[in-house]
Amino acid sequence: MKKVSDIEEAAQTQLDNRLAKAKPMKLGWSSTETHEITVALNKLLGDYSVHYQKLRNYHWNVKGSDFFDLHEQFELQYTEALENIDAIAERIRVFGKTPLSTMQEFLDNAVIKETGSDLSSDRMVREILSDYTLLLESMSRVVEVAVEMNDAGTEEMVKVFVNSIEKHHWMLSAFMAS
Ligand SMILES: [Fe+2]
Repeated sequence: MKKVSDIEEAAQTQLDNRLAKAKPMKLGWSSTETHEITVALNKLLGDYSVHYQKLRNYHWNVKGSDFFDLHEQFELQYTEALENIDAIAERIRVFGKTPLSTMQEFLDNAVIKETGSDLSSDRMVREILSDYTLLLESMSRVVEVAVEMNDAGTEEMVKVFVNSIEKHHWMLSAFMAS
């Protein structure tokens, strides 16, 4: 029969005693690397959050002959934005950092600006198209930093967002051309 001490020893195949008793191990990035990744992610989080609220604003307040198309389209997009925003914030937590979390923080850190509610449907679509350009810039920056840091998780996550925003850009541009 095995002794308890043998079992304990067998259980520690990877970690020496010092590591096993230490705090949970961090991911393999230096604090400077973690800082760079999470600053870029937080910038994207701020932009995306302001964009999200604009989509809701326009979903509620769009008027005119395009109402049914745009009301539905804005809802589809804010539903997707909500999921992506959550993934970005949680990715920042993965690195042990704090995501921007209040409305004030979003507004203070975003390049994307809010508008009022009484806009023509054309103006709303143009605003969203302009937001896409700014979002894609923020996303490119995140991908650039992630590649530099060998952060495949962040890179892969944001590339999916890029693909989707580019598709929305095409669709709303085509809508404007009609
Ligand atoms: Fe609704």
